[in-house]
Amino acid sequence: VNHKPLAGKKVLLTAGPTFEAIDPVRGITNRSSGKMGYALAQAAWLMGADVSLVSGPTALPTPYGVRTVSVQSARQMHAAVFGQIEQQDLFIGVAAVADYGIKNPSAQKQKKQHDQAAGLNMEFELNPDILADVGEFASDQKKSLTVVGFAAETENLDEYANRKLDSKKAHFIVGNLAQQALGSDQTELTIYSKKLPPEYLASLDKLQAARAVLSFISKHS
Ligand code: C5P
Repeated sequence: VNHKPLAGKKVLLTAGPTFEAIDPVRGITNRSSGKMGYALAQAAWLMGADVSLVSGPTALPTPYGVRTVSVQSARQMHAAVFGQIEQQDLFIGVAAVADYGIKNPSAQKQKKQHDQAAGLNMEFELNPDILADVGEFASDQKKSLTVVGFAAETENLDEYANRKLDSKKAHFIVGNLAQQALGSDQTELTIYSKKLPPEYLASLDKLQAARAVLSFISKHS
């Protein structure tokens, strides 16, 4: 058995939520804990890879041996990924990236308006899709780069995951049901790819699941 199947490989991951600022003290985020991405980063290091992690805000300790860069917004995450994508052999986008950011975040803390009828309006703008841009980069400019995405869905997992293989130009999409994975220490994953039948993994602790995902990908890419 090869215990270091990723020796000599460079792996880049995104993990955690993003934080889209509204003003200096407020923002919009989501309930991603970062556990799955951090587990994958740790497992990749244990399997011999040189690992970089670009992380949104999480409460987790940085994984041992892993170069970790902290970012807040989707745009910062995109820039951090593209700053080092050219050297990579494997990209795994695990972060729960906000689809939209706030268009004109305020430089000052916004004050409450006392007009009962006024409510609050905010303008949003579409964020870059990091995984899709990496998929595009791999298919146009770096064929040796393996691209892996995640699909956390609340329904129709097979259909949405298969669709993402195309829309993101990903070699693999790892699917799970959001309601059972978010924040949990266990996860039940299925690995989708173009050529192979879906590979269903039993409910596993996230570090074990991470090892299983990386073994499968390294064997089939
Ligand atoms: O369909 P959805 O965009 O939610 O697909 C999720 C996958 O895409 C995840 O791998 C996530 O990390 C990635 N993604 C991204 N940038 C975005 C949105 C999603 O990298 N702006």
